[in-house]
Amino acid sequence: MRAVAVAKPAGEPQLMRLPVPEPGPGEVLIKVVAAGLNPLDWKLADRARRGETADEAVYPLIYGVDFAGKVAALGPGVTRFAEGDPVFGQPKRVPVGAYGTYAEYVIAAEDGVLAAAPESLPLPLAAALPTAGLTAMSMLDAAGLVAGQTLLLVGAAGGVGSFVTQLAAAHDVRVVAVTRGVGEHEMGELGAADTVDARSGLPVDELREAYPEGVDALIDLASDPERFAAYAELVADGGVAVSTIGAADPDALARRGVEGVNFVVSPSAELLARLAAEVDAGRATVRLGAQVPLADAPDAVARSRAGKARGKTVILV
Ligand SMILES: NC(=O)c1ccc[n+]([C@@H]2O[C@H](COP(=O)([O-])OP(=O)(O)OC[C@H]3O[C@@H](n4cnc5c(N)ncnc54)[C@H](OP(=O)(O)O)[C@@H]3O)[C@@H](O)[C@H]2O)c1
Repeated sequence: MRAVAVAKPAGEPQLMRLPVPEPGPGEVLIKVVAAGLNPLDWKLADRARRGETADEAVYPLIYGVDFAGKVAALGPGVTRFAEGDPVFGQPKRVPVGAYGTYAEYVIAAEDGVLAAAPESLPLPLAAALPTAGLTAMSMLDAAGLVAGQTLLLVGAAGGVGSFVTQLAAAHDVRVVAVTRGVGEHEMGELGAADTVDARSGLPVDELREAYPEGVDALIDLASDPERFAAYAELVADGGVAVSTIGAADPDALARRGVEGVNFVVSPSAELLARLAAEVDAGRATVRLGAQVPLADAPDAVARSRAGKARGKTVILV
C-alpha cells in the first residue's frame, strides 16, 4: 500500500510502499479515504526521534492519528462493525508509527476510538474531526461554561480553535477569538462574538478595556507559559484557564482563585459518537483549510510546522 512515513529516526516523511496490515482478533482493517493532519503527527515523530517518548516507535514510522474510511475486513470475533461501514476515529497509538493513518489501510481495535462517521459530512471531512473535535469538546466540558458566559480563546483560527469556537457559540457562550490575522468576518461566521488580532503584540490591555469584569474562562492553544500567564490575568475570580501545550501553572493560578488546567485529551468511542452527533445536529462543521493528495502530505506537514493553519488540512488517500 502507499503510505507517508519516515524510514529512520533522522529521516523526513516521504511516500513509500509498505505491506497492507492484517487485522488480528478484535481488530478491523479500514480502507482509509482521508487522514486529518494535526500538529500531533509531526510532534509524535519528533519525540520518537529524540527518544523522548516512553512508547516504543517502529520504522518506517507512518504519520497520522486521525482517519475516516470504510471497513474493508474484519478480524476474528468482531461484532460491532461490518464490511463497508463508514467509520472515523483514531487507531492505537503504540507502537508509534505502526498504525499511522497517512496510508491506504490502517488497523483499528473494534473497542478502540472508532465510531460510525457523521451522516451529514462527506468522509474526507470526517477525517478532520477526531483529534481537534474531541479536544475542543472535552476542553469545553472541562471549562464548564454555561450560556451567557465569556470564553477568551487564543489560537482560535486553527484546527482545535475552529471547533471550540463553533461548539461554544452553539451553546450560547460568548467567544472572544484571538488570532494572528484571521479577521472578524471569518471568525464571526464560526460564531465568535469578538475577534482580536495578536500580530502586533499581546492584546491584553485591549482585552482588559473591553472586558473590565474579566472573562469566565481562557482556552489557549498557542501561548508559551509567559504569554499564557498574561492572558490568564484576564480570567475572573472562580474562572478556569486551560492550556493544550502545558503552559499553565496551576499552583500560581490557584493563588488568585483561578483553576489552571494543562489539558490532555482522552479520546474514546463514546466521545467520538457524541462529536458525530454534534456535527449531525449542525452545531459544528469542518472548517477546511486545505485538501491535499497523499503524495503532497510531506509538504503539508512542513506547512503545519511553520504555522499558518486556517482550519483543518485533510490528506486524501
Ligand atoms: N493536549 C492535547 O490533548 C492537545 C490536543 C490537540 C491539540 N493540542 C495542541 O494544541 C495546539 C493547537 O492545535 P491545533 O490543531 O489547533 O493547531 P493548528 O491547527 O496548527 O492551529 C494553531 C493556531 O494557533 C494560532 N496561533 C499561533 N500562535 C498564536 C498567537 N501568538 N496568538 C494567536 N494565535 C496564534 C495559529 O496561527 P498562525 O497560523 O498564524 O500560526 C493557528 O491558527 C497544538 O500545539 C497541538 O499540538 C494538544
